[in-house]
Amino acid sequence: MFQGKKILLGISGSIAAYKIILLTRLLTKSGAEVKIVMTPAARDFVSPLTLSTLAGNPVLVELSDNASWSNHVMLGRWADIMVVAPLSCNTLAKMATGQCDNLLLATWLSATCPVMVAPAMDEDMWHHPTTKDNLTKLESFGVRILQVGNGPLASGLSGDGRMAETEEILKELEHFFFHTQQLKGKKVLITAGPTHERIDPVRFIGNHSSGKMGQALALELANRGAEVTLVSGPVQQSLNDARIEVVPVVSAQEMYDAAVAYFPFTDLAIMAAAVADYMPVTVSAEKIKKQEAAFSIELTRTPDILKKLGELKSADQLLVGFALESTNEKEYAKGKLAAKNADFIVMNSLREAGAGFGHDTNKITVFGKDGTETAFPLKSKKDVATDIVNLLMPHLNA
Ligand code: PMT
Repeated sequence: MFQGKKILLGISGSIAAYKIILLTRLLTKSGAEVKIVMTPAARDFVSPLTLSTLAGNPVLVELSDNASWSNHVMLGRWADIMVVAPLSCNTLAKMATGQCDNLLLATWLSATCPVMVAPAMDEDMWHHPTTKDNLTKLESFGVRILQVGNGPLASGLSGDGRMAETEEILKELEHFFFHTQQLKGKKVLITAGPTHERIDPVRFIGNHSSGKMGQALALELANRGAEVTLVSGPVQQSLNDARIEVVPVVSAQEMYDAAVAYFPFTDLAIMAAAVADYMPVTVSAEKIKKQEAAFSIELTRTPDILKKLGELKSADQLLVGFALESTNEKEYAKGKLAAKNADFIVMNSLREAGAGFGHDTNKITVFGKDGTETAFPLKSKKDVATDIVNLLMPHLNA
């Protein structure tokens, strides 16, 4: 999740420092590059050896040792974010007043990256007016302050002042990296799910699409700050996320009408829906009665949404289609890329186990109109959505 993200952890002297061992492990495991600075007092609570082993980088404590000088300025410039956790009462006071008697403080003073802190202290210290003033001051510098928890404290008492749990810090980091800025201002249109083409009041032509692939894309894009409209066919599990506008439709014609109406206002459109290719020429107003004789329904083509958007597309819009194939996958997918004037086609094959309809996983190859071909292994649809959006990012002027 944090692949390639540069995270600088600052640890000050508090019993809660033990939680940073797990945090470091989880961050590196999810692909982050982690560097750590500690105050001298923090060494009494957690071993630099443990942390440097988990981070894969030396833990820095002193401004200089006999042989070299720790470049605090470059540390603060290297990081995408600095997280001071735990933030002791002492380090808080020093940060608020600009003191600079250790490496962590020197790094904080020279950090050009955003800073987040997770305070940890005993309840009485937490409620002291000086602490409140110091926190207000940090906040006024733009520092993000994580809430303390309530529970057992190092003093043996119970109350406010526990450092945020590891999962909460990870959530905040996820929010920082993904839920906010990257695609702010971008408008995205996604289609998802099947369409149902009515035969009579009780029957329809449909397919097995669950809508999961399109929903995963909608969430991924909303997490990056895009304004997302999801035009969704009838699905069992609909998306309920305040950031995403869901436009429910039933038939291919309804999906077409919605997509064509929203498209002019979008920067990116991704057609992940499994739209029926045919619909009955006439819809019976009454339930069709069973007969002894064989029975056939005349079908006609549904409107091709992707093709229409390809015709309407302007130079600054990006159009992505899907291709669900069961034979000659590459050939057909590339054919759709050209025929529909799309910028990318995401191919998934019904021959691959775990790919396509219904599953929580998918296996895709993305073809670009520039001739690129990018294959990905089987992954969760959430991770597939991340891969697709990562691949599109350079084309979104974001
Ligand atoms: O919903 P899930 O269960 O998660 O499954 C995901 C999925 C398999 C549905 C998805 O990954 C996928 O492949 N979606 C496209 C399925 C499909 O209909 O493929 P196609 O090769 O028939 O269509 C090609 C493209 O044209 C698609 O982008 C489709 O949305 C679009 N199309 C097709 C017909 C039509 N009348 N209008 C269209 O816009």
